[in-house]
Amino acid sequence: MTDETALEMEMVPLVACTISRDVQEFELLIEDMENALGEQWGDLGFDEALPFFEQEDSEPLEFIAIAMDAEDEEELHKLSDIIGAAKERGIKVILIAEDVSPAALHHLLRKGADEFVPYPLPESELQFAIDRLRATEPEPVVEAAVPAPVEAPAVAPQVKLHKGASREGAILAIHGLAGGVGATTFATNLAWELATVTKTDAPKVCLLDLDLQFGSVATYLDLPRRDSVYELLSDIESMDQDSFSQALMTFEDTMEVLTAPADMLPLDLLPPEDIQKLLDTARAHFDYVIVDMPKTLVQWSETVLHAAHVYFAMIELDMRSAQNALRMKRALQSEDLPFDKLRFILNHAPKFTDLSGKSRVKRMAESLGIAIEVQFPDGGKPVLQACDHGLPLATAAAKNPLRKEINKLAASLIELGRDDAEAA
Ligand SMILES: Nc1ncnc2c1ncn2[C@@H]1O[C@H](COP(=O)(O)OP(=O)(O)OP(=O)(O)O)[C@@H](O)[C@H]1O
Ligand SMILES: [Mg+2]
Repeated sequence: MTDETALEMEMVPLVACTISRDVQEFELLIEDMENALGEQWGDLGFDEALPFFEQEDSEPLEFIAIAMDAEDEEELHKLSDIIGAAKERGIKVILIAEDVSPAALHHLLRKGADEFVPYPLPESELQFAIDRLRATEPEPVVEAAVPAPVEAPAVAPQVKLHKGASREGAILAIHGLAGGVGATTFATNLAWELATVTKTDAPKVCLLDLDLQFGSVATYLDLPRRDSVYELLSDIESMDQDSFSQALMTFEDTMEVLTAPADMLPLDLLPPEDIQKLLDTARAHFDYVIVDMPKTLVQWSETVLHAAHVYFAMIELDMRSAQNALRMKRALQSEDLPFDKLRFILNHAPKFTDLSGKSRVKRMAESLGIAIEVQFPDGGKPVLQACDHGLPLATAAAKNPLRKEINKLAASLIELGRDDAEAA
């Protein structure tokens, strides 16, 4: 992967962690941690703390906040061990306690807890405790002490968009490496976000559903599947601008869509030359051509892989995706195809407070020898509902966390396309 084409996603270093039986029991703590630290904190269970201290990710930790109630007094020795291990590493300890006996508190403070704050947290008390910790820090850890950005790190895909003589749009392919990982949801919403990035002068976007048999773009955008699509695809050789545009459906006067045909076509009906011609024609007329790929590798997968400016491979955090990614890697490498061109997107990614989930992501990436450069959160039921109603998330659930991430990715693609055009 070259620097130019690398997608970058910097993980925010964690400067703090809550440690508790169940952090959801301490909602006010979650709120106050977010206010104080943005996304620079994580959450651990009592048994996860010691193993986490052994990991590299724990190095920037400035402090831990152990939240406990009367029930946790039985775990006093465990908590003492956590405090001891934290002290050894120079990590400060704030104790957040609800209905804990004075004896237990005294014990934990003697073990080395630096601050004690009662729960429910009095207004601003957590922030005051953090300030006090920082004030007593002899040499504040450089990065750790920097106030956290509240915004999640912007995904900055460094993609070159080749603009040429004619319109020569960028081809962005999306391939779900396992069924139902969210490829089509991403494809349709990315297309929409790109097409609506500005009110005026937004780029011209065309979405091609090349998942010819089971393609669901038409469903997700509530578009009819025209007979002319079948006719076009079965005779691309004689396709011209007119027949191409006749097969397209306009969605909300904003973007053009080539749906999958109503009747199932054999995937290999189309020779690679036909797909090349289809892509070239689309590129000539649009700024962005989004291609929803079938899960199966076909003869012309290589054609799209070569033509694509970015080839997104979508996965989930499960064995199915991991094994398919490995198969894909082997298949491409055995044909000398550019596996490195794949940009992995992890859908339904663990929340930023889910440290064990995060380390599973890391392990998955390491074991596959890939970089997981973009992560999409689970957007819950509203995503399925938007798909079923044939609406982009921006219309059906604008504030949905999945929508926000796709919107950010679209904005950064536009930005990079602009930089590239200026540099040209
Ligand atoms: N981040 C998410 N949060 C919540 N639901 C999601 C998310 N991503 C996708 N979904 C839902 O998962 C389902 C499958 O998504 P989608 O059809 O996009 O997957 P796919 O990879 O294209 O599947 P196929 O293998 O059928 O092509 C849909 O109901 C969609 O609404
Ligand atoms: Mg799909």
